Amino acid sequence: MKAVILAGGRGTRLFPITVAVNKHLLPVYNKPMIYYPLSILMLMGLRDIIIVLNGEDLPAFKKLLGNGEHLGIRLKYVVQEAPLGLAHALKSTASLLEGQSVCLVLGDNIFFGHGLPALLKKARREVEEGGGAAIFVYQVHDPERYGVAEFDEKGRVLRLEEKPRRPSSNWAVVGLYFYDSQVWDFLRLLKPSPRGEYEITGINQIYLEKGLLKAYRLGRGFTWFDAGTPESFLEASEFVAVYEKRSGKMLACPEEIALANGWISSEEILSRCNMFGDGLYSQYLKRLIEEHTR
Ligand code: DAU
Repeated sequence: MKAVILAGGRGTRLFPITVAVNKHLLPVYNKPMIYYPLSILMLMGLRDIIIVLNGEDLPAFKKLLGNGEHLGIRLKYVVQEAPLGLAHALKSTASLLEGQSVCLVLGDNIFFGHGLPALLKKARREVEEGGGAAIFVYQVHDPERYGVAEFDEKGRVLRLEEKPRRPSSNWAVVGLYFYDSQVWDFLRLLKPSPRGEYEITGINQIYLEKGLLKAYRLGRGFTWFDAGTPESFLEASEFVAVYEKRSGKMLACPEEIALANGWISSEEILSRCNMFGDGLYSQYLKRLIEEHTR
């Protein structure tokens, strides 16, 4: 399975911060926001990744991540001509991915939780082997900001709604989705929503109506942030800072994941350290190499 990270859009909810800088390159505590969704994909073992972005941001992303070789992954970039919604952004990758199943992750979503890679791998396998789509839901206090899932008494999804004024539940649909190869046909059926966007909720709704949607509930052991507003952006940074200071471990260090997956060597990490100078990130990588070679 190949994966897509959405890093386009205009980031209007973070204006003026994002007038000149793409949201996904902003720091969440000590690393660029895009490292977090990228790390989740790498933790799942996904190595072929397409980043969808605005044309003007291409040089900055290439400077940061290049073709991904240094992380043992294969990165490609696709320009979304206009920020017409998440489903539109996914559709812009059709020339590279049509006919294949796909994992989609939003570039401003941050996930953390014990057992998360295993759960995601399971969902991935089910879609690859059995078809259909998988979404993940998480209880929040402000569901009106998100896609929301309504459940029946047996726990089955009844309905999905994008940013409802009066949410029928507090189960938000998080920004990580698995789709089988039918998604490319469904994308063609989609019409713009009243706010003029091609909504990913529309795609999930099609899978739901066909009885092909599986929703996984992320319980208390998981933490999820959509870092798209000043408040959630700050909260995400605070969370990462507290976790890292307490545990001495980094959250979403792509080099660490690549090393653990056996995709790159200690020597390759060392050359990254030389490039990064003597900051805390470099020091962390050097510690990793010591532990790895012990
Ligand atoms: O975070 C989860 C929520 O994400 C879901 O619950 C909603 O169902 C889903 O619609 C989405 O809502 P948001 O309002 O948070 O989406 P946002 O406009 O912030 O875009 C999400 C990411 O996709 C963001 O990283 C930018 C990127 N994007 C967005 C648009 C509109 C694109 O790459 N292209 C686009 O055209």
